[in-house]
Amino acid sequence: MNRILIGAQWGDEGKGKIIDLLAQKSDVIVRFQGGNNAGHTVKFDEETFILHLIPSGILHPGKVCVIGNGVVLDPKAFFEEVDMLASKGVSVKGRLFISEQAHLLFPYHRLMDGLKEESAKQKGKIGTTKRGIGPCYADKVARTGIRVCDLKDLRFFKERLGAVIAEKNEVLKKIYGHPGLSVKKIFEEFKTYRRRLLSFSKDTSLFLHEAARKKKDILFEGAQGTMLDVDHGTYPYVTSSNASVGGAISGSGLSPTLIDKVIGVVKAYTTRVGEGPLPTQFSPKLMKYIQTKGEEFGATTGRPRRCGWFDAVVTRHSVRINGINEIAMMKLDVLSGLQEIKIATSYRVGGKTMRTYPHATSEFERARPVYETMKGWQEDLSQIRRWKDFPPNTKKYIRRLETLLEAPVKIVSVGSKRAQTLFL
Ligand code: GDP
Ligand code: IMO
Ligand code: MG
Repeated sequence: MNRILIGAQWGDEGKGKIIDLLAQKSDVIVRFQGGNNAGHTVKFDEETFILHLIPSGILHPGKVCVIGNGVVLDPKAFFEEVDMLASKGVSVKGRLFISEQAHLLFPYHRLMDGLKEESAKQKGKIGTTKRGIGPCYADKVARTGIRVCDLKDLRFFKERLGAVIAEKNEVLKKIYGHPGLSVKKIFEEFKTYRRRLLSFSKDTSLFLHEAARKKKDILFEGAQGTMLDVDHGTYPYVTSSNASVGGAISGSGLSPTLIDKVIGVVKAYTTRVGEGPLPTQFSPKLMKYIQTKGEEFGATTGRPRRCGWFDAVVTRHSVRINGINEIAMMKLDVLSGLQEIKIATSYRVGGKTMRTYPHATSEFERARPVYETMKGWQEDLSQIRRWKDFPPNTKKYIRRLETLLEAPVKIVSVGSKRAQTLFL
């Protein structure tokens, strides 16, 4: 069975934990978009792994992992991750492949991401991870990108790098007053990566197609979330790739006719890191409480995540865009101890009621959630392993969300460890 796992909110839903669980019943795990802006946490025994580029399935011995053509790859970050895994006893040898077509992320992408954010007026800030993701995708679309396979011919690579950096240096000098970058230095740096990087590279689209033909089970690991998707999210406060289901197809080169299921991961509440509206944002007191209890600090940048009530308007949007067949609901344990729990079921925008997500930024900024209030529960959920042991109000909350989202909840997570999971 070939499954796509997608974040249905603004990222950090707990995708890493679920990928790690589903990887046990998969043969190949594929990242298809984003780059090392992602931070996927997997915890088991007393170990914590945070993966940024390499699929979370790598932690299961014998599973094959693929970094698809849709990913932007920073070789420095990639090798750091390979070495981190090796230091913890996880070998990637012979079971990790990078698409030859994946675009390389260069130091000038990181630099320009940082300069653009720092020089932007408050309104223009995106609150990026400053990993160079946006500038790298911009180059890809502008046809000035450089791919992994371009490293094969060093003369070609050098020529192209020279031309690209000459243009970047003009922008750096004229717009940011920066002295510019040395082609030689960057070329020498990439020359040191070349052999090792090429040893991981492959025509991964062909590889995946052959795996599918042999009835291998492929699991696609989404990064970010649907509301950060460049087409379907809260533009311009988004990342620069398709984090929704379409990205799995274009970013891997596997046909949509070979996909069997789409799993949407949601948190039992909402979080967001970076700029952009969050209509259901908690009051400061409740925010502090949930941030602390849920340990809501970014896995990549350490920034505090803003938190709010579950927003059924945006999540319904995600279910529709992705054709989500099943929902994995995470962090339900964090909601224990509240007197009441709210769900946003629609918005009021300038005197109108909207049940669907408004695309115009100015409308979304003005959207005031209309809440449905449910009774909370006081019990600790972290040790619960059977549906029948949930407090009645917890069951009611899950059932209400299923009705609002028109998709069944099949996985419920009550803690960060592997065992703290219910398969319904
Ligand atoms: P991802 O980006 O979607 O993979 O999510 P992150 O790893 O960035 O953030 C999810 C955080 O929640 C991590 O620290 C996980 O260890 C933690 N987590 C996952 N599931 C649960 C859960 O059910 N309960 C609690 N309390 N924490 C969880
Ligand atoms: P995972 O895979 C949460 C956010 C950033 C910023 C916006 C654009 O762990 O869920 P970028 O650096 O991509 O140009 O930043 O997107 N963002 C994430 N938020 N989880 C992520 O990944 C994110 N990756 C990017 O905070 O608002
Ligand atoms: Mg994350």
